[in-house]
Amino acid sequence: MPTPFYDDLNATLDAAWRLLQQGVPDIRVPAHVPTLATVGLDGKPKLRSIILRALDIKQRVLTLHTDSRSSKLEEIRQNPAVSLHVYDAAQKIQLQLSGQASLHLDDAQADAGWRASRMLSRRTYLVHPGPGKPLDEPGNGLPQALAFRAPSSTESEQGRAHFALLQVQIETLDWLYLAHYSQRRAQFHWTPEGKLQSRWLVP
Ligand SMILES: Cc1cc2nc3c(=O)[nH]c(=O)nc-3n(C[C@H](O)[C@H](O)[C@H](O)COP(=O)(O)O)c2cc1C
Repeated sequence: MPTPFYDDLNATLDAAWRLLQQGVPDIRVPAHVPTLATVGLDGKPKLRSIILRALDIKQRVLTLHTDSRSSKLEEIRQNPAVSLHVYDAAQKIQLQLSGQASLHLDDAQADAGWRASRMLSRRTYLVHPGPGKPLDEPGNGLPQALAFRAPSSTESEQGRAHFALLQVQIETLDWLYLAHYSQRRAQFHWTPEGKLQSRWLVP
């Protein structure tokens, strides 16, 4: 099979969005679990894996789910500038995305995200006292009754208060294709008015 090669900025951007879009339903591809970077409250970078739940290409919005008690919430409140990273080894493509995060805790979007969540996913919102909080003993913070099963729909509802939907509107998408004998790097930036600026960069 010939090495895929990219010489068209628009086609490259389409391919980048497709790579990300594939990550929403397909748990086997790296775009399913991007790395999300925030600026910590101490000003230092913070990274963590997070599942990509939805992508609206037209609006350039990625949707993620998280626990409202996790430290990223406070970090985003303080500084909504975030970045995401994906490296797809099979496609030899790295994506570096940056944009502005917005939090949805108690609105229609959060409600819809919660309704669409599977019971096993909802279980993570039932941990006590909350992600990243200290434990006196080894454990996962879940009630004993839920150690080996998903909660019922009724049981899961206690987790709704901890569920947050996180959206990131992409401002810059940096795309890098790195194979042995062919390399390309492209940068796509959207102005505050939504105008796309595309250019090639040295990889
Ligand atoms: C494969 C994988 C998927 C994860 N998915 C999520 C997720 O969708 N949402 C989330 O908040 N944390 C997710 N996590 C946990 C985060 O990486 C992180 O530990 C947690 O959100 C606490 O982050 P914080 O303390 O920086 O806010 C995932 C971790 C792994 C390893």
